[in-house]
Amino acid sequence: MSFITHIPGIQPFQPAEPAPVQKGVGVVGLHEGRTLLLAMNRVAHARPVAACDLSDEKLAAARRELPDLFFTADYDELLARPDVDIVAIYTPDQQHGEHIERAFAAGKDVLCTKPLVNSLPDAARILAAGRAAKRQLMVGQSTRFFEPFLRQRRDFEAGAFGELELADAHYIHRMDWFYEKSPWAATETDWVYLGLSHPLDLLRWYLGPIESVSACGQRSALGARFGVRGFDIYTVNVRAADGRLGRALGHYGCHELPRARNCIELVLYGSRGTSLAQYHDMRYLHTAPDGSEVVEDSLYALRHYYFNSEVHGMHYGEFANYLEHFASALIQGTPHSPGLEEGVEVFCLMEAARRSAESGAPVALQPLLEQVGLGRG
Ligand SMILES: NC(=O)c1ccc[n+]([C@@H]2O[C@H](COP(=O)([O-])OP(=O)(O)OC[C@H]3O[C@@H](n4cnc5c(N)ncnc54)[C@H](O)[C@@H]3O)[C@@H](O)[C@H]2O)c1
Repeated sequence: MSFITHIPGIQPFQPAEPAPVQKGVGVVGLHEGRTLLLAMNRVAHARPVAACDLSDEKLAAARRELPDLFFTADYDELLARPDVDIVAIYTPDQQHGEHIERAFAAGKDVLCTKPLVNSLPDAARILAAGRAAKRQLMVGQSTRFFEPFLRQRRDFEAGAFGELELADAHYIHRMDWFYEKSPWAATETDWVYLGLSHPLDLLRWYLGPIESVSACGQRSALGARFGVRGFDIYTVNVRAADGRLGRALGHYGCHELPRARNCIELVLYGSRGTSLAQYHDMRYLHTAPDGSEVVEDSLYALRHYYFNSEVHGMHYGEFANYLEHFASALIQGTPHSPGLEEGVEVFCLMEAARRSAESGAPVALQPLLEQVGLGRG
């Protein structure tokens, strides 16, 4: 086994040099959205210009940190500003559909945190609105943009593991603290969207279009105590259109995880190698061609960038990485991912998992794709 703790090419964190052309960003929802505001010093092609929240306290706290921005409790005021090019949405899951549709109607491009939406009507509505407005959207799938997952993807694209044959992902997190701060999580959404959006997006990213889903669900004692309406434990098996298999696991009422596991993990099993990416210990482990194991541990090297100098913390680095990806794509006319259609497809995957767990029967994706306006030929 070899350990790499000094990662070649990593420099100490420095704020990004502003690019000659930058997109102005208006953020709505200032809990996770505050992280994006503060992370924009890592982004070259975008800058914060406005922020919106219903809470006076959240507005006052953000104003203290970034006094030069425009602050409002009225989303329409943010949408009316000509200096806002990208609207970044971090409101509760069940509001994303409406906030996206209104941003498109105002002529803005949209960055929306995961999950993109949490209902079939909202999926259909934002797809139609985005197409009609001819505006761009990117889903803030933070896990894709965390260092070990970026490294794993780079190696996958270089063919380091041969042909991918099986993908195995999970997101597991004890969530009593989340219900206490955000009671909407228990009753206005479902963990299949709120939590499984991470592993299910990873499966779709690696396996391509998914054909069918078989899922089981259960409610934990912790979930029942907080009045969770749906399930907070899910096991999901997927079959891709090309026949390959994937598996996702979510548990949001557990006690705690032993340190051997991370809350988000993705294992890729290829014909010539295997790899594991971990959030949040920032480890990337993979087999080398000689059969030995390589452990790349960048937690201490990169904690300033990803966690704002704490050892673990909020999502500064991932949010900055995906905003830079989106803003530079808009400016340079290059592709970005996951975009509107891919995001809606991942929504259909989440919805299929929810329906399968509820009914106990496998669910095919095609009818859902057709219902939202994404039917495959
Ligand atoms: N890894 C990630 O990318 C990640 C992590 C956590 C949460 N999220 C997502 O971010 C979103 C927000 O989660 P959170 O933990 O910040 O929730 P939260 O409840 O802590 O914060 C939501 C904020 O939105 C504000 N708000 C609500 N309705 C509003 C409206 N109509 N106009 C303006 N402001 C409004 C609230 O006042 C609150 O400050 C959710 O969709 C969640 O799934 C993503």
